[in-house]
Amino acid sequence: MKARRPLIAGNWKMNGFAVAGTHLAGALVGRAAEDPDIAADIVVCPPATLLAPVGEMLRGTIIALGGQDCHPEPSGAHTGDIAAEMLADLACDFVIVGHSERRADHGETDAVVRSKAEAAARAGLIAIICVGETEAQRDSGEALEVVRAQVRGSVPDGATAESVVLAYEPVWAIGTGKVAQPSDVAEMHAAIRQEIRGLIPDADALRILYGGSVKPDNAAQLLALEDVDGALVGGASLKADDFWAIAKTCG
Ligand code: 13P
Repeated sequence: MKARRPLIAGNWKMNGFAVAGTHLAGALVGRAAEDPDIAADIVVCPPATLLAPVGEMLRGTIIALGGQDCHPEPSGAHTGDIAAEMLADLACDFVIVGHSERRADHGETDAVVRSKAEAAARAGLIAIICVGETEAQRDSGEALEVVRAQVRGSVPDGATAESVVLAYEPVWAIGTGKVAQPSDVAEMHAAIRQEIRGLIPDADALRILYGGSVKPDNAAQLLALEDVDGALVGGASLKADDFWAIAKTCG
């Protein structure tokens, strides 16, 4: 077994109305009750509208709650935004920051992502900091340098393996069914680990997740790679059976 306990995170993205979302959460609570000794930490990140009811359902289970984004400031005139402190107030333990969809849709730069990760730490949340190259960047041979620069720019000073998790999500593998080659994932995760050695004191304890079309049938191969310490799961996290099957590959 690996020294780092795997983390399996479900990112529901902008999916889930009240009935379906709570139904999904209920199904996950059922799986968790059957599998209390599963060899992974598990977190689900529903849309903001469902954080309260889903959080209520997850209370006392082995499944943690996470937000999908937060604002850098603790409060104030930021219409539509959610503070990290508000997520903590709803019993979240995690928050995703810098997802490529937010970097693309909302123009989030590494500096913005870093300020959000700082906000997460201030609120006592673990930031899942996302990085990943586009298809054009991979095709032109820049993937390693692009991702290393994102890591340098997005991880705050003072971060530790307790306060942050990194997630490598190649943009071209998200929602496409195209999974990165295990050899490319291994190379990238090793490069991220090397980069992080210069940034945090306990780099060997940091969890680095892979994300991008992770499904039950490819999870075991990806999660077996040395520097892959879990998965950030999108589409398959919307099906309780699939999400749990991915988590079960950890043992
Ligand atoms: P998919 O698993 O749907 O490819 O999404 C991955 C992702 O973006 C998780 O944050």
